Amino acid sequence: MHCIKKVTDDLTWVGANDRRLAMFEGVYSVPYGVSYNSYLLTDEKTVLFDTVDKAVQHKFLENLIEALGSRTLDYLAVQHMEPDHSSVLLELLSRYPNMKIVCNAKILELIRQFFNIDISSRAHLVKEGDVLITGKHKLHFVMAPMVHWPEVMVTYDSTDKILFSADAFGSFGALNGALFADEVDFAKDYMDEARRYYANIVGKYGKQAEALLDKAAGLEINMICPLHGFVWRKKLQNIISKYKLWSTYTPEESGVMIAYASVYGNTENAAEILACALRDRGIKTVMFDVSVTPASEIVAAAFRWSHLVFASTTYNAGIFVTMEALLSDLIAHNIQNRTIAIIENGSWAATSGGLIRKMLESESAQGKSKNITFIDKILSLKSALKSSQLEEIDSMAEAIYASFAKMQNSPAASPPASTSLIDTKALYKLSYGLFVLSAKNGNKDNGCIINTVTQISEKPLRISIAVNKANFTHDMILNSKEFNVSILTENTPFGIFERFGFHSGKDTDKFTGYNDSKRSANGILYLTAHVNAVISAKVTETIDSGSHTLFIADITEAQVLSNEPSTTYQYYFENIKPKPQAPKGAKKGFICKICGYVYEGDTLPKDFICPLCKHGVEDFEPI
Ligand code: FEO
Repeated sequence: MHCIKKVTDDLTWVGANDRRLAMFEGVYSVPYGVSYNSYLLTDEKTVLFDTVDKAVQHKFLENLIEALGSRTLDYLAVQHMEPDHSSVLLELLSRYPNMKIVCNAKILELIRQFFNIDISSRAHLVKEGDVLITGKHKLHFVMAPMVHWPEVMVTYDSTDKILFSADAFGSFGALNGALFADEVDFAKDYMDEARRYYANIVGKYGKQAEALLDKAAGLEINMICPLHGFVWRKKLQNIISKYKLWSTYTPEESGVMIAYASVYGNTENAAEILACALRDRGIKTVMFDVSVTPASEIVAAAFRWSHLVFASTTYNAGIFVTMEALLSDLIAHNIQNRTIAIIENGSWAATSGGLIRKMLESESAQGKSKNITFIDKILSLKSALKSSQLEEIDSMAEAIYASFAKMQNSPAASPPASTSLIDTKALYKLSYGLFVLSAKNGNKDNGCIINTVTQISEKPLRISIAVNKANFTHDMILNSKEFNVSILTENTPFGIFERFGFHSGKDTDKFTGYNDSKRSANGILYLTAHVNAVISAKVTETIDSGSHTLFIADITEAQVLSNEPSTTYQYYFENIKPKPQAPKGAKKGFICKICGYVYEGDTLPKDFICPLCKHGVEDFEPI
C-alpha cells in the first residue's frame, strides 16, 4: 500500500524509510533509520526529483504510481548519482519510455559507469543557470560539485521558491510519520543526527558546502527539500546557521570533547580526572571511549566542540588501533580550528602522544587541517596516573581553561559575519532594563549586572536571560541551574553598578559589607534596596550563543518590592553613570564608556574586550 505525503499542492513526497539498514554506506550506523526522499512535481509536465535506494524500491514504486495517478512521468531529474538515490533509474526508464532524464554531463557519465548503458538520446542536459519550464513551475539548475560527489547539482523552483538540495541539509533518521522539521522537536531529537550526517558525509568538503550556501544566499527560499531527513518550511535559519558553522569548521559550542583509548582503564582514569578538573572550572565536557562509540559519533562531536583531548595508550609501539583509526577519520574529514590536548600512556615506552601530535601536525603542515592549536605539554603516564601527577592534570585543565579566554578574544572564534551590514547602535534602540543577577554555589554567593531578562511564555511561566560567559555568575548558574533577578530602579546609585558590575566574583565577595539583601526560597540572595521586584527561576535549557549563554528558566518565585520605575539602559547612561574621565596624566588611548577603564595606545584592537566590564570596542571612545 502506498504511503505518500503532500509537500505543496503540486509537490508530493514519494520516498521511503529504511529502519533495517545496519550500516549506511557500509560504515555509518543508523540506529534511528534513514529516509530516502523523492519528490514528484505535478505540473503540465511531471517531474520526479531523484529516486531511492534499492532496499526500498518496492515501497517507492507504489508511492510514485499513486502520486502520478493516471499520468505518466515526463522527467526524472537526477541530482546525485550515489546509488541510494539512483537505484531505480533503470526501472523508471523501462516503465516510462518517453521519460527524459534531466542531468548534467557528469551525471550522464556516471549513469554510464553505474549502469553500462548509454542514455544520451533520453538525456535533457543542463548546466549552471539553465531553466526548465514545466508549465507553472520554473526549475533552475545550480551546480554543487562535491556536496557530496562531483556531479551533484541542486534545483531551485522559483515559482514556489523551493530548493531541492540533494544531500545538503539532510539528516540521518527515519521520518516516523512526519515530513516537516517543524512537526518534530528537531533541535532536541534530530540535530545530533543532522550533525553526524553532515560531518561524516559532507564534512570533508567544507569549502564546497560554503560555495553552495553562498549561491543559496542569493535565492529567496521558502522550503528546502533534501534527499534524506525532514523538509524545512519554517525557521530555515535553524539549519542554515548550523551549516554555516559546520562548513567553516567553526565550533558550535565552547567545551571539551575527550576521546580515549584505554586497554585496562588507566588511561580512561586519567581522562576522567581531567574531565572533573575541567568541570570544576565550569567547562562543558563530553567523553567517548573510542573502542566502543562509533567513530561517526565522535567525528560529529569533534565538529561540535571547540576543544579536543585525545588520550591513548601505546600499543605495538604506536597509537592504539581504535584511536589511530579515529584520528585518520578526523583528518580525512578535514577537522580544523580546534585546540587539542594529548594524554599518552605506556608501560615501558610511551610513544602514542608524540605520534598523535605528529599525525595531526603533519596534516596541518600539508594544509589539510588548519589552525590547530596544541596545549603544549603532553601528559605522559607510565601504566597509571600517580598522585604526583595530579598537578600535571590540573595544569592541563588550567591551560585549557586559559585557552578559552584567549579564544573569546579571537576573531577566529566567532563565525564569519557580514559586519558591514550591522550597525550595532541599532541595538541600543531596544529598551533594556538593568538587573542584578545572583546565584549561589555551596557557600559562595555572587552577583553581576545583566541587561537582558525577557518573559518568553506564560504557560509555563518562563523567562530567558543572556549572560556573558566571562562572568563568574555565569559559571555558577551552569552548575547550580538556579538564579535570582533583582530588577533595579531609577534611584539605584552608581555604587551598585560598581559593586556588582565592575569586579569579578572570582576575586571578590560582592555581598560582603552589603546589607540590603535577603535570601529567597531557593536560598539565593537578592537585593532589597533600589529594586522594585525580584524573580527566582530554575534553568530548563541553556543555549550557547557565542560570547553569551542564553538560560531559559521557569519562574519559581516572584515578588514586587516597590512601585519605583525600573531603570533602563538609556536612563542609566543619562542619569546614573558619571561620565568617565580619563585619569590625569593618561596617555593617548581609549576609555570605556561603561566603566571608565582606559586602554592606552594609538589604536584599539578590533576584538578588544574591556577587562573590567566585558564590553567590546563599540563602548570605547578616544580620550
Ligand atoms: Fe545520500 Fe551522497 O547520498
